[in-house]
Amino acid sequence: MKNFFLTLHLISMCLVVGTLFLQSLSVVIRLRLKTREELAGVQFVQRRIHKFIYYPILAVTLLSGLYLAIHTGAFSKGSWLYVKLFLLLLLIVFGILNGKQIEKDVFPKKYAMMVHIPIFLIGAGMIYLATLKPF
Ligand code: HEM
Repeated sequence: MKNFFLTLHLISMCLVVGTLFLQSLSVVIRLRLKTREELAGVQFVQRRIHKFIYYPILAVTLLSGLYLAIHTGAFSKGSWLYVKLFLLLLLIVFGILNGKQIEKDVFPKKYAMMVHIPIFLIGAGMIYLATLKPF
């Protein structure tokens, strides 16, 4: 059973981090669009991905992670998991910011980059902690 949940956890976390990375990048690229029709089309796709792919797959990652943490005793084995959960909170906050930027039509590019870059760094940090379990 552990192998099943580990596989589920890995595939879903790839989708969570990958979806957020590309959604935040597409917000940056979207700033180059010229017409309102183009913007509305991209916004429609982004909105659907955010609501119907990102949030459900985030729930799968959280639940499978919780199962793994309980069944491997990870909560009492080391402190890497707590740091990872702190980064997870940050990732969720940046996911919410990404959702807000999807709804906005125009804003400075630097704000879009300030969401896109942390998502990459936080995702990398979480994967590092979970894979190497350094402490
Ligand atoms: C977006 C959120 C998350 C990401 C990116 C993520 C990433 C990862 C990765 C890459 C691994 C594989 C480590 C390996 O086997 O080499 C892993 C395992 C693990 N994750 Fe997560 N995780 C997330 C959320 C969670 C949550 C919410 C929990 C607990 C409440 C959790 C608990 C665990 C545990 C206990 C393992 C280790 C299982 C084992 O020792 O075999 N994860 N995670």
